[in-house]
Amino acid sequence: MFFLCVSLSFTALEVECLSSDGQALLSLLSAADPYYKKSSPVLSSWNPSNPTPCSWQGITCSPQERVISLSIPDTFLNLSSLPSDLSSLSSLQLLNLSSTNISGSIPPSFGSLTQLRLLDLSSNSLSGPIPSELGKLTLLQFLFLNSNRLTGAIPQQLANLSSLPLPPR
Ligand SMILES: *[C@@H]1O[C@H](CO)[C@@H](O)[C@H](O)[C@H]1NC(C)=O
Ligand SMILES: *[C@@H]1O[C@H](CO)[C@@H](O)[C@H](O)[C@H]1NC(C)=O
Ligand SMILES: *[C@@H]1O[C@H](CO)[C@@H](O)[C@H](O)[C@H]1NC(C)=O
Ligand SMILES: *[C@@H]1O[C@H](CO)[C@@H](O)[C@H](O)[C@H]1NC(C)=O
Repeated sequence: MFFLCVSLSFTALEVECLSSDGQALLSLLSAADPYYKKSSPVLSSWNPSNPTPCSWQGITCSPQERVISLSIPDTFLNLSSLPSDLSSLSSLQLLNLSSTNISGSIPPSFGSLTQLRLLDLSSNSLSGPIPSELGKLTLLQFLFLNSNRLTGAIPQQLANLSSLPLPPR
């Protein structure tokens, strides 16, 4: 795939390929209906033919053009699950998907977003347990999971997040 993009870029067509961070973000649009995509000021800026997602609304990139922030609260994504593709955004520091109408469970693979400082998945319809893998997010300072349908206990592993202000037990 990468080779194909490189070779095409030497033709007059000037085909540019979206970076892998951009590809991962597009997984959030899988359920969006075309009309909504066009009318939403945020989602209509998510142009798959851009080389990087850095100009898309709700996205902030590092100087290396890696996505460090994804913040699109109050955008109706209507997803039946949180795409695990997002866990490949390995430079992500801030993720705010509050009030985006996402259901399903929190993917354990989110534990690989080790640069995350702020995670807000509040006010959705998420269900199931909080994965213990989130305990690997050692830089996490803010975790908002309220107003969902999560069940079970807060995993023991999260108690080891030294930067996280948890109520005393
Ligand atoms: C989500 O659902 C609402 C209400 O049914 C609808 O208005 C909106 O267009 C949908 N959004 C997407 C992204 O499909
Ligand atoms: C996420 O976005 C919502 C809506 O703008 C905001 O109220 C909330 O504070 C944000 N979350 C964090 C942790 O900053
Ligand atoms: C939320 O998404 C579901 C599809 O997953 C859709 O049926 C429903 O209408 C959406 N709700 C709102 C308030 O947009
Ligand atoms: C928490 O950290 C302590 C000390 O580093 C370690 O002994 C313990 O196994 C950790 N607990 C969990 C649940 O990860």
